[in-house]
Amino acid sequence: MRDLFDRIIENKGPLGKWASQAEGYFVFPKLEGPISNRMKFQGKDVITWSINDYLGLASRPDVRAVDAQAAVDYGSAYPMGARMMSGHTDLHEKLQNELAAFVHKEAAYLLNFGYQGMVSTIDALVSKDDVIVYDVDAHACIIDGVRLHHGKRFTYKHNDLESIEKNLQRAVKIAEQTGGGILLISEGVFGMRGEQGRLKEIVALKEKYNFRLLVDDAHGFGTLGKTGAGAGEEQGIQDGIDVYFATFAKAMASTGAFIAADQEIIDYLKYNLRSQMFAKSLQMQLVIGALKRLDMLRSMPELREKLWENVNALQNGLKERGFDIGTTQSCVTPVYLKGSIPEAMALVKDLRENHGIFCSIVVYPVIPKGLILLRLIPTATHTLEDVEETLVAFSAIRERLENGTYKRLSAAVSALMGE
Ligand SMILES: Cc1ncc(COP(=O)(O)O)c(C=O)c1O
Repeated sequence: MRDLFDRIIENKGPLGKWASQAEGYFVFPKLEGPISNRMKFQGKDVITWSINDYLGLASRPDVRAVDAQAAVDYGSAYPMGARMMSGHTDLHEKLQNELAAFVHKEAAYLLNFGYQGMVSTIDALVSKDDVIVYDVDAHACIIDGVRLHHGKRFTYKHNDLESIEKNLQRAVKIAEQTGGGILLISEGVFGMRGEQGRLKEIVALKEKYNFRLLVDDAHGFGTLGKTGAGAGEEQGIQDGIDVYFATFAKAMASTGAFIAADQEIIDYLKYNLRSQMFAKSLQMQLVIGALKRLDMLRSMPELREKLWENVNALQNGLKERGFDIGTTQSCVTPVYLKGSIPEAMALVKDLRENHGIFCSIVVYPVIPKGLILLRLIPTATHTLEDVEETLVAFSAIRERLENGTYKRLSAAVSALMGE
């Protein structure tokens, strides 16, 4: 028998194995200074394209003043206990009612974290006789929620209607045998590539198949739709979403999350969401902060307009310069380039050190080998000058990638990695 820790020490996991080359720079980088379009990285000013503060609320003095006053009034302990036991307040209820109205649902329920809340929502919605059908590119929190399920589950090819229908048919066969129902799960916006889930077409399939739809709209909430109610509103099918989920971690620039649905479904979830029943209630500071942020989402459409001005300038500028930005239909802006992992590392270093541009980098195994994905998140705090500077920098790095500069610079790392 071996010691449990032997394996952990030998094998640090798919990402952990890169720690010695990547930590502090490519992973776990430390961005400093107030959250905004320009921050500091290792002492240098950088244009920040890696933070989901879509509407630019994070550092607004009016938002921070409300956060600060809530801390003065309540500290960080209040309320103590789980919602069901002693952690319930009028303000939790008020926020839920306002969130429900904002996303055009009857009722809503707060979650302490999006990730944990989604896991728990899936767990609470299905029993062993039910069948889950979900997108193969689903966020880790959906995958983990599905892992708790004791019944059958089927993945469909990413956003592929034929595959969705085929898997619904398989699910129907099983559900007819077990006497269970079907839960289909999609994201409103897929966070890596920026595509919206095919919600309109999925909802249309309800005419043919009996299933319920759960949508994780982490990136759509506050950014898409006429009023910012998300991908369902954008596609005109908000009513067809049976359980709507969003986190406060992006457009709301905070911590926490919520689900929204018909009253009787929320009433059920309230008594069956294990992550809420057996965990401390969302802190009052976060509840009051969320009420303020939601008010701004409702009353300041100009924030969303500025966000989209930047998104359009960046995405159109990249396309005009011949960059491949895939099929994004949201603020998430992926730029696909061809190159090895060592080349990607040299390129990102050049971007950060010589051009002052900080964006996230995604490589194999998250995307196919030989591709580099630079992921840019525009926000309302960016300026058109930031966009222009970034476009110029991107043209420069593409030239160096194509003329082999990064290959030469990264030869030593390539040899080490056997690339
Ligand atoms: C699609 C999606 N779902 C869920 C989450 C998790 O939310 P939270 O950060 O609130 O745990 C994230 C990341 O924030 C996300 O991108």
